[in-house]
Amino acid sequence: MPQKIVILDFGSQTTQLIGRRVRELNIYSEIIPYNKYPYGREADEDIIGVILSGSPLSVYDPEAFRIDLERLFAAGIPVLGICYGAQLMAHTFGGKVEPAGSREYGRARLNEIDADCPLFAGIAPGAQVWMSHGDTITALPDGYKVAASTADVRYAAFQAATAGRVWGVQFHPEVFHSECGMKLLENFAVGICGARRDWSAESFIESTVAELRATLGNDRVILGLSGGVDSSVAAVLLNRAIGSNLTCIFVDHGMLRKNEFADVLRDYECLGLNVRGVDASDKFFADLAGVTDPERKRKIIGADFIEVFDREAHKITDARWLAQGTIYPDCIESLSITGTVIKSHHNVGGLPEKMNLRLCEPLRLLFKDEVRAVGRALGMPEHLITRHPFPGPGLAVRILGEVTREKVAVLQEADHIFIDGLRRSGLYDKVWQAGVILLPVQSVGVMGDERTYERAVALRAVTSTDAMTADWAHLPYDFMASVSNEIINKVCGVNRVCYDISSKPPATIEWE
Ligand code: XMP
Repeated sequence: MPQKIVILDFGSQTTQLIGRRVRELNIYSEIIPYNKYPYGREADEDIIGVILSGSPLSVYDPEAFRIDLERLFAAGIPVLGICYGAQLMAHTFGGKVEPAGSREYGRARLNEIDADCPLFAGIAPGAQVWMSHGDTITALPDGYKVAASTADVRYAAFQAATAGRVWGVQFHPEVFHSECGMKLLENFAVGICGARRDWSAESFIESTVAELRATLGNDRVILGLSGGVDSSVAAVLLNRAIGSNLTCIFVDHGMLRKNEFADVLRDYECLGLNVRGVDASDKFFADLAGVTDPERKRKIIGADFIEVFDREAHKITDARWLAQGTIYPDCIESLSITGTVIKSHHNVGGLPEKMNLRLCEPLRLLFKDEVRAVGRALGMPEHLITRHPFPGPGLAVRILGEVTREKVAVLQEADHIFIDGLRRSGLYDKVWQAGVILLPVQSVGVMGDERTYERAVALRAVTSTDAMTADWAHLPYDFMASVSNEIINKVCGVNRVCYDISSKPPATIEWE
C-alpha cells in the first residue's frame, strides 16, 4: 500500500475537496467516517498524517461527533484539524469554543503569522483565507499556542506545543478562495508528515495491475461496458492485468446515440478488449411499447438490462468475478447530520448477488479526473476519455411519452447535429453534458409555402462539476442559430427548436 493521509469525515460539505487537494499534491488520501479510524491496527503503518474535517455541527451539540483524540495524538502521527476539527481539539483539551458574535463567512486575511510554525512556511502575512463557521475558538488549551490570526479571529490557527504533533486551523485551506490553502496543505503533508509525492496515474496503474493479478490469478472476469469513461477505463486496466480472461459485454438497448454502438464497439476492439456486442433492442422496444410514465420506463429498462446481461454472462460458465467501473465518490460513506452512514451503491444493482459472483472494482479509489488521467496513461483515445456523461436508459429518458424506434431515429438525427456542432465549434469540452429532448407536442410552422404541423425538440447543455448542481450553458447565439437551422432543415418531422434555460436545482439535467 502507498503512504496515505487519512481524512476523518465529520460531515462537512468540503470533506471530498480536502481529499482531492491532497491527491493533487500527488499524495494518496483516503476519506473515512470519523468513527472508523483504524486505531492501533497494522494499517496504521501506512498512515503518515490525519486531517479532521469540518462539520455542520457545533462541538456543543448533544449529538456532536466525537473521537478519542488522546488516543489519536498518542500514536505520534501528525494531525491537522480544520474548522470543526480544530474546535474539537480546543474543546476537548480545556480551551473554549463559543458562538461567534456574527457568523464568520467569506474572505479574511491572516495579518499575523508565527514565522516559526512549519504549517505556515513560505506563507507571508496578508495571505487570503476563507472562513465559514458559526462557532469560534476563544481560548486555547494549556500548552497550545497561536500560529495565525485575522482581524476578527484571534485563533485562526494554532499549534499544540506539548501534545504530540498537532495543528488546527479555523479557516478552510481546501477551498479555492483560500489562496495559501494548497501551500498550507503541502506544508502539512510534505513538510510535516514527510509524504513522498509518488501518487500518480502511472504508479496507480502499476500497483493496481500487480494487485489485480495477485487477486484474480487465472479467474475469469465479466465486465459490463456502457461506452462511458468509467467502465471503459476499468476494462482497459483489467485487460492489461489479465488479458483474455476478461470478457466484456456491451448491450445495445437501441436507445444509444446515432452510430454509437458500432463506433464504440470498434473503439473497444481497437483497444484489444475481448468484447461481445449484444443487440437486444427488440426486447427493450417491445417491453416499452405503450409505456409513458418515466419511472416505469426506467424500471423496465433496468430490469431488461439485468436480464440480458445475466443471460449473456451465463454463457461464460466459469466466470468468478463481476467487474464494475465504480469510482470513489460512489464509494465514500458520507455522513448525514444524524450520523447515518449512507452505503456505496453499485452500477449494476443486485447482479453480483444474483449471479453469485465476487465484485471487482479497480477504480473505487479514484475521483473522475483521476480516472481520466489513468485512461490517458493507458493510451486510450481522447474521445473515449472526454466523452460526456450519458444516462444508462439512454435516449428513452429524452423522449417524453412512449418510446418507439421511429422517435429514437428522429432524436438521434437532431442529437447528432447538436453534438457534432458542439465538437466542430470547440464547445464540446466546455460543457459538462449536452443532448436533445424530443417533446410530446406538435406545433404549426411554415416551410416553403406549405403549412407544417410537426414536432418540437429542446436543446439541453449544462455546465457542472459533479452533476449534483448544474447551470444551463450560455452557448453563443450564432451557434444556437446554426444548430436550430440545421435541425429544422435536415431532420424530417421537426419544425421547432427550443433551448432549455433551467438550472439544477430546481430542474434536473435529464427531463425524465
Ligand atoms: P439528473 O437528471 O438527475 O442527472 O440531474 C444527473 C446525472 O446523472 C445522469 N443520469 C443517469 N446516469 N443512469 C445513469 O447512469 C441513469 O439512470 C441516469 N439518470 C440520469 C444524467 O445524465 C446526469 O449526468
